[in-house]
Amino acid sequence: MCGIVAYIGHREAYPLIIKGLKRLEYRGYDSSGIALLNDGLNIYKKKGKVVDLEATLINENLTSTIGIGHTRWATHGEPNDVNAHPHYSASQNLAIIHNGIIENYSSIKKNLLKKGHVFYSDTDSEVFIHFIEDIQVNTGCLLEEAVRLAMKEVVGAYAIVIMDATNPSQLIAARKGSPLVIGVGDNEFFFASDATPIIEYTNEVIYLNDYELAVVRDGALTVKNVDNILQSPYIQTVELELEAIEKGGYEHFMLKEIYEQPRSVADCMRGRVNADSGLLVLGGLRDYVDKLAKTKRIVIVACGTSWHAGLVAEYIFEELARINVEVEYASEFRYRNPIIKEGDFVIAISQSGETADTLAAIELAKSKGATIIGVCNVVGSSIPRATHAGAYTHAGPEIGVASTKAFTAQVTVLAMMAIAVARKKGTLHEDTFRRLLFELERIPSKIETVLKTDEKIKEIAAKFKDSRNFIYLGRGYNFPVALEGALKLKEISYIHAEGYPAAEMKHGPIALIDEEMPVVFIATKDSSYEKVVSNIQEVKARKGKVIAIVTEGDKLIPTMADYTIEIPAMHEALIPLVATIPLQLLSYHIAVLRGCNVDQPRNLAKSVTVE
Ligand code: F6R
Repeated sequence: MCGIVAYIGHREAYPLIIKGLKRLEYRGYDSSGIALLNDGLNIYKKKGKVVDLEATLINENLTSTIGIGHTRWATHGEPNDVNAHPHYSASQNLAIIHNGIIENYSSIKKNLLKKGHVFYSDTDSEVFIHFIEDIQVNTGCLLEEAVRLAMKEVVGAYAIVIMDATNPSQLIAARKGSPLVIGVGDNEFFFASDATPIIEYTNEVIYLNDYELAVVRDGALTVKNVDNILQSPYIQTVELELEAIEKGGYEHFMLKEIYEQPRSVADCMRGRVNADSGLLVLGGLRDYVDKLAKTKRIVIVACGTSWHAGLVAEYIFEELARINVEVEYASEFRYRNPIIKEGDFVIAISQSGETADTLAAIELAKSKGATIIGVCNVVGSSIPRATHAGAYTHAGPEIGVASTKAFTAQVTVLAMMAIAVARKKGTLHEDTFRRLLFELERIPSKIETVLKTDEKIKEIAAKFKDSRNFIYLGRGYNFPVALEGALKLKEISYIHAEGYPAAEMKHGPIALIDEEMPVVFIATKDSSYEKVVSNIQEVKARKGKVIAIVTEGDKLIPTMADYTIEIPAMHEALIPLVATIPLQLLSYHIAVLRGCNVDQPRNLAKSVTVE
């Protein structure tokens, strides 16, 4: 969590950094700050959003061609002006921005306090920069050497950039466990947590690796590792369009991303699926489909919405490929002593590719001999680099904190994977294989159809915006859809919502049903349809308010439900790809009507790099 941006070159740093921080605000938005070098090292910090910082700087001298900036999601110390980054060293010559957590900061701080250091904030990051300077003072070494020696001592995660008032032509950056991208321009360098603040200026980037240190001095970049060995950084070209990271006329990123789904699902399948020719290829998994077809067990690890995508995959893999699948919360998996044997496959799903628990689960499974497959959205992020193979979801940047298009792209990739494996294994009849490809190709236009019901969904949202609780119910493939619908509602509207398998209702949650309780059923025409109809009747008998997602042309459920939203018919395994859309829209409209900050809900951050 937290976003960092830094610049050194010939442009004005301030506007570039402020703009970059706004692009990274999805990573944390409780406070922000910036440091510039002009008539000395000046640090400006403010609790709140980047615009709040900007508003305080109108009369400042912000001229500088070097600067560092930070937008924070608090880990150590409450969000306030003092705890915001950048932080000074003891001499006030150095300033640091830091994304991550230094786990052994309190023992380092204790030693520094004994030496007379004074700390103004409660953060681990201030301790980090004091520690670096202390090493430099004690050893008389160069700053970059002090950073390298500090890297050997600190435990935890960091992406840092350090600016030195005594050396205005230098920036030093380092990384372990938190992302850091370096943009390479013409006599200028950019540093950021992801490529979005950079692509306006250059698309040539270097993804710094763990335990690497980058030094820009007098217009030249060198990269070395923590053992002082020079590295030859790999400069790659990012293919990211500027429009993809802007709102494009939508009121919120979340709405834009919901509406992008016909395209993002199509992009996810581009070059991978062709029903006419019977083509189904996932380039990154070419050598693994055969092995997956032979495995006896797949364990899926993920968090949050990505975990819900994993649950959908469990149903699809088991149904089509007849492989035993277990879906684990990465955070639970990593702290157990999970049974993983050689030959097991672990599929790690992550939009950001940076989730700390998922990364740790991967390392654990790898150490036990599993083969790791990644399903990630952010190209070049940490998880794809930690896996043996994988498939990107190609949904494009997801900026709204609530995940929408990443979920449908994840399910699309996982469905393609399951179909490919099932075919290889011989558990899928050729006709069904062709039919599934045909149906996959039609998903974008079916999502388009559902998006046209937005006005109706908005009206339903208006009826329920003041509800205090919601229940979401579904069976089979639609059970994970119910969980995802409930998560979307609670995270952006702060209404308490629970997702359950519809049949579980009578084992407890039915006690909650009364005339005040909205119950959202995903009640499509599938193998559980009749059972779900009975569940709807049970809710209506207790005066609950029913909102049902139904298959186009359903005549029965509209006679029972208070509100229905139709989705087109499709193969049962693919329903989650389309049934999720009205639930995303319902949450979105309820949150907007309640005046909530849809794109940056309280207490959340997009990329959860803390454990
Ligand atoms: C919910 C949401 C989170 C993420 C979770 C995992 O809308 O976005 O629950 O799904 O934090 O993040 P990734 O997929 O980046 O590993």
